[in-house]
Order: sequence, then C-alpha cells, then structure tokens
Amino acid sequence: MLRLGILGSGKGSNFTAILEAIDSGALAAEVAMVISDRENAGILETARSRNLPARFIDPGESRSRLSSEAEANVIASLKEAGAELIVLAGFMRLIRQPLIDAFPRRIINIHPSLLPKFRGLAAWQQALEAGETETGCTVHYVDSGMDTGEILAQRRVPVLENDTAETLHARIQEAEHHLLPSVIAEVFAR
Ligand code: GRF
Repeated sequence: MLRLGILGSGKGSNFTAILEAIDSGALAAEVAMVISDRENAGILETARSRNLPARFIDPGESRSRLSSEAEANVIASLKEAGAELIVLAGFMRLIRQPLIDAFPRRIINIHPSLLPKFRGLAAWQQALEAGETETGCTVHYVDSGMDTGEILAQRRVPVLENDTAETLHARIQEAEHHLLPSVIAEVFAR
C-alpha cells in the first residue's frame, strides 16, 4: 500500500477527494501523515476527524517558505511516518532543496491552471483576466521553483462567459478532485 504524506495550508478539499478515492477502492494508498503550516487549517481537522496522524508545524518567519528548522521537522515527520509519496494539496509555500532531495521524484503538487500558464497565486483569476476561454489544472513534480516542475497530467475546463473568479475556481477545483487522486493511482500506486 502506497503511504502518502500530505502537506496542505487550507480547507483540504483535494485531501478529501484523496480520502474518497481510497474509501471507494479507486486508490490503493493510505495516509501516513498530514502536515500543515497553519494551525487551524481544515485539512488538519479532516485528518483528525478520521484519526489520521496530523501535525501543525510552525513555519517560522518567512511568508513564502518554511524555515530551515521547520522544513527539517517536516522531513523527519514524513520519514518517521514512512511516507513514500508527498502530495502538496494546497500547500502555499515553496519547498527547499533538502525536502526535495529527501524524496527524489516523489513530491507532487496540484495547481489550478494549465501550466506553464499562470504560475503562482490565484491562477484562476489570472486566466479570467487574460481572457482565456479554457483553463484547467495540472499535477506536476515539485522542484525548488514556483510551479515549474515536470508536468504529470492536466485536465481542462472551459471558462464560461459569465464566470466570476469564484465560479471558475469552483469548476477548476472539481476537476482537481478527479485529477489528483487519479494521477496518484495511475502513476504511483501501481
Ligand atoms: C487548490 O485549488 C490547488 O490547486 C491549490 O490550492 C488549492 C487547495 O484547495 N494549490 P484545497 O485546500 O485542496 O481545498
């Protein structure tokens, strides 16, 4: 059984989609550890409500990365838990080289655009403002850049005429909830 380490900062709807895929038998994996840089993140609540190992790790001073100490803690927690594939499911920080080197080609991220278009924050808003008629989501390997790692898979969604940032983001998230568990199942849990 593939042991997953999950990192998230937010509500954790992608994590919930992973749990549903595991429950339904579509994904042969188990959750070894969930880590968040935000103490009150929904993703930690979801993990705890299922009695899954969940930890808040104080990120330190930087807004964009974990402190070196925090990242060392993350690595130690993931290793101790026996995590084999690390999934960034709405983790809002860049990863440093030691974490990347600790799990070579075993860290993936879900991003709400068709990369390489619209890297960084609020990618759905960027797509809307650019007047795209189509956008989507991407699962990619994580490197030390911002949304720059090798692409594993993408799923397209239309941008509709009356879309707001909210409606478009919701449509992209629905696509994410299909794409992320299916990539984990097809590429890593075989
Ligand atoms: C997703 O839209 C993902 O693409 C981005 O962060 C969001 C996380 O949402 N990286 P959730 O916490 O999984 O609901």
